Amino acid sequence: MMAKRPRVENLRGPISNGPMQARPLVALLDGRDCSIEMPILKDVATVAFCDAQSTSEIHEKVLNEAVGALMWHTIVLTKEDLEKFKTLRIIVRIGSGVDNIDVKAAGELGIAVCNVPGYGVEEVADTTLCLILNLYRRTYWLANMVREGKKFTGPEQVREAAQGCARIRGDTLGIVGLGRIGSAVALRAKAFGFNVIFYDPYLPDGIEKSLGLTRVYTLQIVLFVSVMLVLSCKFRL
Ligand SMILES: NC(=O)c1ccc[n+]([C@@H]2O[C@H](COP(=O)([O-])OP(=O)(O)OC[C@H]3O[C@@H](n4cnc5c(N)ncnc54)[C@H](O)[C@@H]3O)[C@@H](O)[C@H]2O)c1
Repeated sequence: MMAKRPRVENLRGPISNGPMQARPLVALLDGRDCSIEMPILKDVATVAFCDAQSTSEIHEKVLNEAVGALMWHTIVLTKEDLEKFKTLRIIVRIGSGVDNIDVKAAGELGIAVCNVPGYGVEEVADTTLCLILNLYRRTYWLANMVREGKKFTGPEQVREAAQGCARIRGDTLGIVGLGRIGSAVALRAKAFGFNVIFYDPYLPDGIEKSLGLTRVYTLQIVLFVSVMLVLSCKFRL
């Protein structure tokens, strides 16, 4: 016998089988850039640009008629904010994190929340490595010295200016959270000669072998052993 599905209160009505509104209203709530989405949406929807910092700045027409919302990271949608949208069915976060949306409340209201998990993975990993390499090789500070007019007249001066430069090879880089970004950082760090270790209790056994990394099984060990630490898991207070 099939189990009866629990009744969910507050869900928006079903999408009717009748003719859909010719052009549904989709709103970009914050930010101004939807250059990737716009070419796709322009033929099927009317797109409203709200450029809002909060829902109090969003036009009544959008609150009453928008069926879809795109959003960056500026605006926050609490339960009270979500309740202001009368016809909303889907929110798409242009990015990975959904911590600026009350996802539970959205679910209770029948609004689907989607994100783009792969957003910026390579760029975040590249930038992470830039920052790490800079700490080791001190290129930012050295370049600044030259920009400020410092003249190097001999190896002694270079040595003095580069004080704090460290050798990468063999140093242990710890990664907490070996997901998309963590593993992208790991691959890059390995190429630079780091001994890469990671802590991620949610990954299956053997992943360390596929990637040629060292796995540790407690946060304490990764904190104790690492010279450099990358946090690439969800941030929760
Ligand atoms: N700044 C940006 O542009 C940008 C872009 C993408 C992602 N991010 C953020 O970076 C973080 C990682 O993103 P991702 O795409 O790699 O996520 P992901 O879900 O692919 O990976 C996260 C990993 O963390 C692990 N994890 C979860 N809880 C953990 C814990 N307590 N200890 C150790 N490991 C834990 C998970 O098992 C998973 O493997 C997220 O917070 C994401 O929002 C930022």
